[in-house]
Amino acid sequence: MAETRSSAEITVRRGTVDDIPQFRALGEAVVPPTYGPIDPAYAQRMLDEWWIPEVFEKSLARNAHLVAERDGRVVALGSFGRLSRSYRDFPYVTGDREVMWKLYVHPDHQGLGIGSRLLGQVEALVEGDELWLEVVDGNDPAFDFYRSHGFEEVERISDDGPFPDDVWMRKVLR
Ligand SMILES: CC(C)(COP(=O)(O)OP(=O)(O)OC[C@H]1O[C@@H](n2cnc3c(N)ncnc32)[C@H](O)[C@@H]1OP(=O)(O)O)[C@@H](O)C(=O)NCCC(=O)NCCS
Repeated sequence: MAETRSSAEITVRRGTVDDIPQFRALGEAVVPPTYGPIDPAYAQRMLDEWWIPEVFEKSLARNAHLVAERDGRVVALGSFGRLSRSYRDFPYVTGDREVMWKLYVHPDHQGLGIGSRLLGQVEALVEGDELWLEVVDGNDPAFDFYRSHGFEEVERISDDGPFPDDVWMRKVLR
C-alpha cells in the first residue's frame, strides 16, 4: 500500500545546536535541486558558505530556529531574526527589519503544508508588524509560494557579482 504522507505526523519545535548535523543533511538534499537549475556555482556557494556548522552556530545564537520533525528526523527548517543582529552586512538597508532567513522543506516532504505551517508559526512569533525575506532571483516556485501567502516584492538587490539578484519581499502582518 502506497505510504500516504500528511503534515499530521509532523511535530514543530525550536531548533538547537544538536540539530546542526541534520540541518546540514537537509541542505544537501534541498539546495542542489532548488538552486542548481538557477546557478550551479551559487548552489555550491550556499552549501560551502551558509549551510555549515560554524554559520549555524552563529545563527542559532542570534536567531530563532523552528524545525519540523517526522519520525525523529528534521524534514524542514525555518529561521528568523532582526537584520540588525545578522552577521551579514546590508549596506543598502536603512533601519531595522525582522527577516525570515531560511524556510526549507526536504524535497520528499514538499507540497504537504509543512512550509505553510512553519511560515505561520514564524509570523506568530514576529514582534513587529512586518516580516521580510529574501528570495534568489529565478526561484519562481518559492516566489509564487510567498506571494500566495501574502508577501509582496519590495526591491531587487544585485551584488554586481556573478550571482543572481536577491529579491526582498515583505508581508504586512497587522
Ligand atoms: C517553498 C517551500 C518552502 C514551500 O513549502 P511546502 O511545504 O512545499 O509548501 P506547502 O505545502 O506548505 O504549500 C502549499 C500551498 O502553498 C501555495 N503554493 C505552494 N507553491 C505554490 C506555487 N508555486 N504557486 C502558488 N501557490 C503555491 C499553495 O496555496 C499551496 O497550497 P495547496 O497545495 O493547498 O494549493 C518548499 O517547497 C521548499 O522548501 N522549496 C525548496 C527550497 C526553497 O525554495 N525555499 C525558499 C527559499 S527563499
